[in-house]
Amino acid sequence: MARDSRHLVGLSTLSGEAIASILDDASRLRDRVRENGPSTDLAGRVVALMFMEPSTRTRSSFTTAAFKLGAQVLPFDAASSSTTKGESLLDTARTVVAAGADAIVIRHKQVGGAHFLASRLSVPVINAGDGIHEHPTQGLLDALTLRDALGTLEGKTVAIVGDIRHSRVARSNCFALPKLGARVLLAGPGTLCPPELAALGVEVRRNIDDVLDEADAIMLLRIQRERIGGALLPSIDEYRRFYGLDVERLQRRPELVVLHPAPMNRGVEVAHEVADSHQSHVFRQMENGVYVRMAVYMRALEQEVV
Ligand code: CP
Repeated sequence: MARDSRHLVGLSTLSGEAIASILDDASRLRDRVRENGPSTDLAGRVVALMFMEPSTRTRSSFTTAAFKLGAQVLPFDAASSSTTKGESLLDTARTVVAAGADAIVIRHKQVGGAHFLASRLSVPVINAGDGIHEHPTQGLLDALTLRDALGTLEGKTVAIVGDIRHSRVARSNCFALPKLGARVLLAGPGTLCPPELAALGVEVRRNIDDVLDEADAIMLLRIQRERIGGALLPSIDEYRRFYGLDVERLQRRPELVVLHPAPMNRGVEVAHEVADSHQSHVFRQMENGVYVRMAVYMRALEQEVV
């Protein structure tokens, strides 16, 4: 059931063609919204946003994506839900479906949370982040932003720098970008970017200076303190020195495209001036998130983008 193509559980199982098709749909929807405003493609449909972990960008863009297609959003607040009384994830999701949801968007700390629901529910399930595993819609919006900025991903080099080990964003990008023809370089502290990651079909380097000159684009990642113990962490100063993109480094590469999935720790992995520079595409990523999520809803609810 999790192989049902209405679900979006991760990018590891999608072909390059399927990924490119979602990006094309997102791009078409963006043109349509800019020209004509919201549509009624999904009028009468209900999507439930089950966020069991904090979110600003993903939740708000799944919400506006639904509105722009005429769908209703079934509000779900984990903190005031009956999960706090011990109700299981599956019973909670079944309840939301019984209440009328036509699709479920799920963010959960458990790796495999979305897959678990996708293999048990009759409605499509969209993964909005499962622990450290995958964040497929973020990977798609990153790819769309890169394609916009670079014209194509074919033959381009994308560096991802920072806490790769705990980053579901990095993982989804490592699955998607090579399928679109890009080469991926990873760099980060040894404990947060172990050499075994090369098994994902990417190259692992030591620090930002080892990738900066070869990259057409760079994605900075924050240290995910909420997921790791202090023992693995370098000091903030050390992190900034070896893995941070500051003004001096940016000046070496005036054409470099800068991405960050956010939230950003300004002054650590990315300098204030870099985050706000014309080379930064961070807020374009967020805007593209709406169009990618519109495309994902259309695919989940089996509507053609015309
Ligand atoms: N990039 C991202 O997933 O941000 P949120 O955690 O705010 O949704």
